[in-house]
Amino acid sequence: MDKAINAAIFDLDGVLVDTAQYHYLAWRRVAEALRIPFTQEDNERLKGVSRSQSLEYVLQKGNEAMPAEEKREWASRKNEWYLEYLAGLNETHLLPGARAYVDSLKKAGVRIGLGTSSRNAGIILERLRIQDWFDAVVDGSMVAQTKPDPEVFLKCAQLLQVQPEGCLVLEDSTAGIQAAKNAGMKCVGIGDKLVLKEADLVVSGLRELLLSPVRYKEAAP
Ligand code: BG6
Ligand code: MG
Repeated sequence: MDKAINAAIFDLDGVLVDTAQYHYLAWRRVAEALRIPFTQEDNERLKGVSRSQSLEYVLQKGNEAMPAEEKREWASRKNEWYLEYLAGLNETHLLPGARAYVDSLKKAGVRIGLGTSSRNAGIILERLRIQDWFDAVVDGSMVAQTKPDPEVFLKCAQLLQVQPEGCLVLEDSTAGIQAAKNAGMKCVGIGDKLVLKEADLVVSGLRELLLSPVRYKEAAP
C-alpha cells in the first residue's frame, strides 16, 4: 500500500460509529417475527447492503414469498426498530480513533468522503455532530445499486475530484470491500481478518491505523 492516497472514503455503520449492532438487532427481530433463523453469519452478509436487499436476503433464507406492499411494510418496521435503538445516539458512539484518524488525514491534505448504503446517514451525522468532517457525502438515497456494486464509491470519488486509484476505502463489510475493489480502490478492512479476507489490509479499528499509519501524499493541488 505505497501508492499515493489523495482521498479517504469512509463507510459509516461499523467504521465511524457503533451502529452495526443496532442493524443486527433490528434484522434479528424481523427474522424472529417471520420465524426465519438468523445467525451471525447471515448478519455478515447483510452488512453494507441496502435495506431492501437485506430484506430480500432474509426472505430468501426463510423461503418466504411476499407481495411488494408487505415487503415495504417489513422494511419500514425494521427501520422503526432501528431508529428506536438509535434513540440515545450521540458523540460518545463514535468508534475509538475515528476523530483522531480523520484529523490526521485532514492535516496530511487527504480529502474525506463518506460512502454509505444507509438512508439514515443524515440523522446519524447530525447526532454525532460530524457533518463538517466530509468534503463529499454519498448515501443510500443517492445510488441505484447497493454494495458490492462500486457506484457509491465511484460517485464519491467523482465529487471529491480524485481518481479511483487515489482513493482509500475504509470498510467493515465484505460487500463494501468488494465494492471498493470493483471501483479500483485500495481498501482497509475494519474487523476480523478471517472474514474480511479480500481487503488490502485488515485492522481491528481506526485506532490501530493511528499507530501504524498507511503512507499518504499531500492531495493534488
Ligand atoms: C449499511 C449497513 O451501512 O446501511 C446495513 O451496514 C444497512 O446493515 C444499510 O442495511 C442500509 O441502512 P439504512 O439505515 O438505510 O437501513
Ligand atoms: Mg458498515
